[in-house]
Amino acid sequence: MLVREDLNVPLKDGQVADATRIKAAVPTLKDLQARGAYVIVMSHLGRPKGVDQSLSLRPVAQELGRALWTEVKFAYDCVGPQAQSGVSRLQPGSVLLLENVRFHPEDEANDPAFAQQLASLGEIFCLDAFASSHRVHASVVGVAQYLPAYAGRLMEAELNALHAALDYPKKPLIAVIGGAKVSTKIGLLNNLATRVDALIIGGAMANTFLKAQGHNTGNSLIDDTAIEAANQIWKTMGQRLVLPVDLVATQQTMSGQPLRVFPATNVEAGWIAVDIGPQSVNLFAQHLQGAGTIVWNGPLGITEVPEFSAGTKAVGEAIAGSGAYTLVGGGDTAAAVDALGLAGRFSFVSTGGGATLEYLEGKELPGVAVLKEA
Ligand code: ADP
Ligand code: 3PG
Ligand code: MG
Repeated sequence: MLVREDLNVPLKDGQVADATRIKAAVPTLKDLQARGAYVIVMSHLGRPKGVDQSLSLRPVAQELGRALWTEVKFAYDCVGPQAQSGVSRLQPGSVLLLENVRFHPEDEANDPAFAQQLASLGEIFCLDAFASSHRVHASVVGVAQYLPAYAGRLMEAELNALHAALDYPKKPLIAVIGGAKVSTKIGLLNNLATRVDALIIGGAMANTFLKAQGHNTGNSLIDDTAIEAANQIWKTMGQRLVLPVDLVATQQTMSGQPLRVFPATNVEAGWIAVDIGPQSVNLFAQHLQGAGTIVWNGPLGITEVPEFSAGTKAVGEAIAGSGAYTLVGGGDTAAAVDALGLAGRFSFVSTGGGATLEYLEGKELPGVAVLKEA
């Protein structure tokens, strides 16, 4: 059984710094082990251009072994003699992790011959790498041309969660969107605008909407390329668009600076909005009370700095305590949820970054499309 997981985890000093994605792969792998499969796992790590030992999956194999309570063997290449010899030594129920598929540029090129080489290692293809399902790469979609393919448990859980939240949500459906740039999320905002009962905006994203309305935004981060798009979304949504009414600002975006709260319509010159203010938290919480479904992507402030994360934490608490079906997505959002002690309090936290955003944009994910074909 050849399994594509997304074990693209952050490393620090050569060790796994956050094992969330490794743990998320466990249900599928344990299930295959229990059924006596020969489990061959492939993944990418980072964005190497060719072989780069600092992006070897070797430390991930160790961590995966800990998560599975089994020895995980490692093959120093994902194709060719090294991979084949690793596979030939497998026992029923044992697990082999192949080296980073991106050490071969053919993976990202979705090269058919490379996909065929990968496919030759197994008899069935299990696509479990939801977080890579927006990539048209050999190890994600290419292999499915050569082997019978099916979805793993993580893939299934992710798609069920997104489907439940967006395609047949318990109403009212409310989206909370933050982060830095409107331009990277225009597709998402436009898609959500057609579906949600309310769209709550925070983070630097709110600054662009406020600037678009002619308000003073001081030195806050603005996405100047997206002013027009913000105005358009405002027009489409009218009362359903909910923006902050006050903002916490600083003169320098670092710890230990004096903070001031401004009305959202007037952040004074020289000040930078770094979080939503207490009145905005109350306003957002009022909207979230009584929601049937809440989708959250994007921190509502610069959560990398603890002093600027109170708004995100308070709104996160309101989402978690709302009684609604709650779906959280986005790399930085998931990290913020962990850092703020909110882990385990939502119905589902997606392991996807870009893939989740593309789903929220209403795009069909290539990885999902190949599974449908299969
Ligand atoms: P995700 O990865 O969850 O989709 P984004 O990448 O869109 O989220 O947004 C996260 C980034 O947005 C963080 O780096 C955070 O510092 C930044 N951000 C949020 N609010 C502000 C703000 N007011 N000013 C500047 N950056 C902000
Ligand atoms: C991610 O971290 O979003 C996925 O692992 C995909 O990685 P990529 O953006 O390098 O393709
Ligand atoms: Mg991000």
